[in-house]
Amino acid sequence: MARISEQSIEQVRNAADIVDVVSGYIQLKRKGRNFFGLCPFHSEKTGSFSVNEQKQIFHCFGCGVGGGVINFIMQIEKLEFAEAVQFLADRFNIQLDITGSSRPRELLFQLRDIHEFAARHFQTNLKTAEGKEVLQYFADRGLSRKTISEFRLGYSQTGWGTLLELLRAEKYTADAMTQSGLFISGEKGYFDRFRGRIMFPLQNTQGKIVGFAGRVFKGDDPAKYVNSPETPLYNKSRILYGLWASKPFIRESDPVIVVEGYMDFLQLFQAGIQNIAAVSGTAFTDNHARELRKYSRKIALAYDGDKAGISAAVRAGYVLLRNGLNPSIVEMPENVDPDDWVKQAGPGPILEAVEKAVDLLHFQYEKSAGDRNDPSFNAGFVKSVLQELVLFEDRILRELYVKRLAEITGLKDETLFRSLEDLLQRRKQRLPRGKDITKTETLRKPDSPASLKLEDELLQLCFSTDHSIRKLIYDHFIREWFTSPSSQRIFDAVFIHLPSAGSPDINTVFDALENDSDRRRLSALLMEIDKISTTPVVAKDCLTRLEKKFIDAQLDAKRQQLKATASGTVEFSQLLTEMDLLQRKKKNAGKLYSKS
Ligand code: UTP
Ligand code: MN
Repeated sequence: MARISEQSIEQVRNAADIVDVVSGYIQLKRKGRNFFGLCPFHSEKTGSFSVNEQKQIFHCFGCGVGGGVINFIMQIEKLEFAEAVQFLADRFNIQLDITGSSRPRELLFQLRDIHEFAARHFQTNLKTAEGKEVLQYFADRGLSRKTISEFRLGYSQTGWGTLLELLRAEKYTADAMTQSGLFISGEKGYFDRFRGRIMFPLQNTQGKIVGFAGRVFKGDDPAKYVNSPETPLYNKSRILYGLWASKPFIRESDPVIVVEGYMDFLQLFQAGIQNIAAVSGTAFTDNHARELRKYSRKIALAYDGDKAGISAAVRAGYVLLRNGLNPSIVEMPENVDPDDWVKQAGPGPILEAVEKAVDLLHFQYEKSAGDRNDPSFNAGFVKSVLQELVLFEDRILRELYVKRLAEITGLKDETLFRSLEDLLQRRKQRLPRGKDITKTETLRKPDSPASLKLEDELLQLCFSTDHSIRKLIYDHFIREWFTSPSSQRIFDAVFIHLPSAGSPDINTVFDALENDSDRRRLSALLMEIDKISTTPVVAKDCLTRLEKKFIDAQLDAKRQQLKATASGTVEFSQLLTEMDLLQRKKKNAGKLYSKS
């Protein structure tokens, strides 16, 4: 499929001034900041169609159409996006750079080549002066030469475009380069995603490289690991690090040991514990479970011994359970990860701990903080387990685990079954048929027009010229605080541009919006943008109010639930606790970012 390069589209946008272009269709008169004329998309006697020269956008206050210059041509000439670009290019004598016409190899092949090329480049970098330091670091951490070369570890140089320049000389299509995920589009074009990092190639089960993880080396970047984004090659929720190398061993011996980190994997594998895999850069997913199920039913989770590790292990455990696998959890010494442990003590103790790995429910019970004699402790524990069990599709599994739960807590089976039934009922009522509870987002009924004003305001703030305002939103705002799906979509389109040095390029955002009504809304908002005052104080206030409304909605939902729950039950007291927590959260809303 032919594709017009980003650069060409940019040239067209620069050349095709929107006032010129629109003037070719209707008469425009300047009035203040904007130009006005009779709308070509609906019949009217007064001119409500306006064009903003500075922002290069149009918007009709009568019928609501709006967008950038390319959108204008699409609508008035009834063309597709690419055709509209071509149309304008012809008009302004621009030679479009169209890739794909000279029959490039399939995108996937190119992506594979690009990754292979990049991996080799990162490996070669280990021979540079900086690379020598990385090798020393590997040695200090106890990685052998063999491990380094088998898993093709490498290093990405600190420059902004080292890999980009090398790959440009290789004549891959712009499309493949963009879709590789190895480059980030910034103000002044593309640059390398991975800079000055230790590189771990992520390989699929055939051993083909599909992405990378980069660990910070000497830089002061707060992100310890940077991972490839989702690409046509790389599906985060499916790939398990190292599985390509460990699968023959996994087939041979139970269980599969799952660890959290790349270093954990490498260290254990090197020490001869080879029935192992690592999640990479995400929580454990249903897809991971299905992938592992091909090799073994028994899984031992060897996560870090700290609080975060424990709760991640429990969550992973439930994912495995509900996919019909048999998880157990390896007790790790406190604040030690498998990497440290095997280095300190060799493979023996870990293998022993794997042997003694505990059943998920027991583990969770043991690790839950609180006084076991306190009734509310048991209530809370039961509730959290039942909430997981309710997600199980398999009735038999569900019942088995309820029985086990009864044993652990000493509560009667029937009580637990009744509570579970309650939860199942409620889940059925709440969910549209066929939907998975884990996926139902907290999409609330869109608010009244008055409160949508607040959402409008926040979207406008995203286009503020004040970097600190955009950064504030980027760091603290959560898309779910919006009640309207349209606000969420517009936010998604502008989100990645928020941290850039300059305010987001309006036309790029428009092109990222697929929905005509979203474009209308955004053009209307942008037309008004000069009227609102955008100070950091206003921005913080807006954020706080949206967060509070979000919490209010949750409180409302809980209140409804409470009404439907018999007082004195486990759920009832749990709901009260949850509401308490929400109240406290509401009181604190805004404190976090008000300081920054
Ligand atoms: P850890 O912080 O435990 O790192 O994260 P690590 O693998 O032990 O690395 P070292 O020992 O400090 O070198 C565990 C895993 O969580 C993911 C990575 O997959 C990492 O291996 N992670 C961690 C990220 O994806 N991003 C991060 O910023 C941090
Ligand atoms: Mn570690």
